[in-house]
Amino acid sequence: EKGKMEPEPDIDKEPPQSEQSKWESDQISSAVFRFGAKDRKAQQEYSLLMEDEMIEFVQVLHMPGHDREKKREESPPAHVKSLQTIQETKKSLPIYPFRKDLIQAIKDHQVLIIEGETGSGKTTQIPQYLYESGFAEDGKIIGCTQPRRVAAMSVAARVAHEMAVKLGNEVGYAIRFEDCTSHRTRIKYMTDGTLHREFLSEPDLASYSVMIIDEAHERTLHTDILFGLVKDIARFRPDLKLLISSATLDVTKFSEFFDDAPIFRIPGRRFPVDIYYTKAPESDYIEACVVSILQIHTTQPSGDILVFLTGQEEIETCQEILQERVRRLGSKLAELLILPVYANLPSDMQIKIFQPTPPGARKVVLATNIAETSLTIDNIVYVIDPGYAKQNNFNPRTGMESLIVVPISKASASQRAGRAGRVAPGKCFRLYTAWAYQHELEDSTVPEIQRINLGNAVLTLKALGIDDLMHFDFLDPPPPETLILALEQLYALGALNHRGELTKLGRRMAEFPLDPMMAKMLLASEKYRCSEEIATIAAMLSVNGAIFYRPKDKIIHADAARKNFYVLGGDHLTLLNVYNQWAQSDFSTHWCYENFIQHRSMKRARDVREQLVGLMQRVEMELVSGITETINIRKAITAGYFYHVARLSKGGHYKTAKHNQTVAIHPNSSLFQELPRWLLYHELVFTTKEFMRQVTEIESKWLLEVAPHYYKPKEIEDSTNKKMPKVTGRARPDGTN
Ligand code: CDP
Ligand code: MG
Repeated sequence: EKGKMEPEPDIDKEPPQSEQSKWESDQISSAVFRFGAKDRKAQQEYSLLMEDEMIEFVQVLHMPGHDREKKREESPPAHVKSLQTIQETKKSLPIYPFRKDLIQAIKDHQVLIIEGETGSGKTTQIPQYLYESGFAEDGKIIGCTQPRRVAAMSVAARVAHEMAVKLGNEVGYAIRFEDCTSHRTRIKYMTDGTLHREFLSEPDLASYSVMIIDEAHERTLHTDILFGLVKDIARFRPDLKLLISSATLDVTKFSEFFDDAPIFRIPGRRFPVDIYYTKAPESDYIEACVVSILQIHTTQPSGDILVFLTGQEEIETCQEILQERVRRLGSKLAELLILPVYANLPSDMQIKIFQPTPPGARKVVLATNIAETSLTIDNIVYVIDPGYAKQNNFNPRTGMESLIVVPISKASASQRAGRAGRVAPGKCFRLYTAWAYQHELEDSTVPEIQRINLGNAVLTLKALGIDDLMHFDFLDPPPPETLILALEQLYALGALNHRGELTKLGRRMAEFPLDPMMAKMLLASEKYRCSEEIATIAAMLSVNGAIFYRPKDKIIHADAARKNFYVLGGDHLTLLNVYNQWAQSDFSTHWCYENFIQHRSMKRARDVREQLVGLMQRVEMELVSGITETINIRKAITAGYFYHVARLSKGGHYKTAKHNQTVAIHPNSSLFQELPRWLLYHELVFTTKEFMRQVTEIESKWLLEVAPHYYKPKEIEDSTNKKMPKVTGRARPDGTN
């Protein structure tokens, strides 16, 4: 735990080593940075304004910029920049002077590694240069993968704008459950997962003339697997150009993997960034963020602020606290525009983050990791970095996968700091001590393939006919136990036979862009005569934005509204109930508003549901509905999620069925106070402990019925055929009482 480490940073003697070596001529100073310290009046006024103690930062590092003098002449102040025409903006990007050389290099080599600082124009410009050079002639497509949905969408929108075409025509994007392309599309942005799935229908990627694997440094699972797949294709498709594009991190590894492919470096342009650490650890980093934002806003010259938080919930909390503080300070403050950025941000909000800040105002962007390298927001001069990110982690021993908040790596920290120096000299405030930086952050982030569940990836690879996974060409191989566990899970789900070959069920499961467990649940619903209901539940679980709206000032009302939807059996059935009632209201916006339901999430669920139903028809599933008995629905869910089963043990604690790991029902669950004997959960989230989110009561004997390969009668011995508790006043899932 970062917050607990006490020793004073020995800043004079031991500057952080890895940063030191990275920026050759670092100047180390140890000035204590007190906001407004020069201006007594400002400081007095400031301390009057603030009830909380100011945070004291210590500067220990100076990251020099590259050819900053030159840039200063070239680049007009940021607010003037917004008035530039599109053409001028394009010409001002660092990549522009190299466009001819770049195209030539692409013509000369089949595989090219491209390295350039974040914001240099790789993602938005390279596909356009290729398009202008005729790479999309003969109806071929220039493809570009992105690890993140928001990036794929917003970059496509930006490029469509630059090319003055309608999004979805010449320039489009495809992400899971959303295809915004047409037969006219020549530049196509997509998530790496989407391209992974495209291999299933077009194993040689014949529609593409160029494939850009972008943001390669992020090393997501899908990107890592794509490396192996595209490398293989390049061998028998000599006409396919392959570009691997990365932020400035060690790219020699990519080059070696692709048989020593040449590296094209786009020289960076960056202003110096001063890095400050807190003098003492901060116990509450959200609060520390709010205080730091206000400190910057009241005492620092103009320039926007970028804050890195771990997820949507945290961003919303920070936004609420900040708005409340700003409101209390009233007219004493200059205008502060607070803008969130996270994966599920609706597109109208996405546009706002790229709009220029009005003169006199300041913008503060509250972002997840997405703003680290995937999205470039202009005009950022101050970065606040609490030093955490949310990560999916998987324990192959217990088979438990969980979302946890972890300290970032040093490599991430320097990417974050770099965001402050794009338009002017900047400052980065790290909300941790220099000591913590040095002793507690790993050098680089472990690639996803080495720390998450591979079930989905293995299923797709098997469906592609790649049987020998142990010898697949991985950039970094996954741990063998993780691979074996994925194979075992797929076997228990019935997707693989005992020889490790794909079964008919497995082939059908691979048709769905879903986790194998969810795909299995969908397919099992046919047998249990509840496919319509399960399609709804799967759609509601796939929305990944919140369904229930919970504004801070109306928590009591919101929670009461949520409880009204609770039904016997648990959260899956509650989600079904919400959807069915909404459908009965004719999908009304007003209904959502009255019931504290997020309309946006519901619309998305409806969309996803439609597509799932389409896929279910494609694999020739019979669509049935209308059963009144919830046992069937819960059995179908169990058929997919029998890995995620926990039983009640002594003292009211839950332990996972197979590995006896302690888990707890999430307080937001409808079963929080019910304590059923056996239950299954959709996912685990680790905060203060392992919480099960979306839980449903099951009967242990079902496990023998749905997963005879996995559960033995002995393991579920203490089962009772306990009746469901009778709770009055609860609605049935069909909405009646
Ligand atoms: O990929 P790379 O980090 O090298 O740069 P980029 O994403 O192509 O960004 C180049 C420029 O486009 C930056 O100045 C961004 O601010 C701008 N951009 C934008 O205005 N809107 C977007 N949705 C994406 C990029
Ligand atoms: Mg990029």
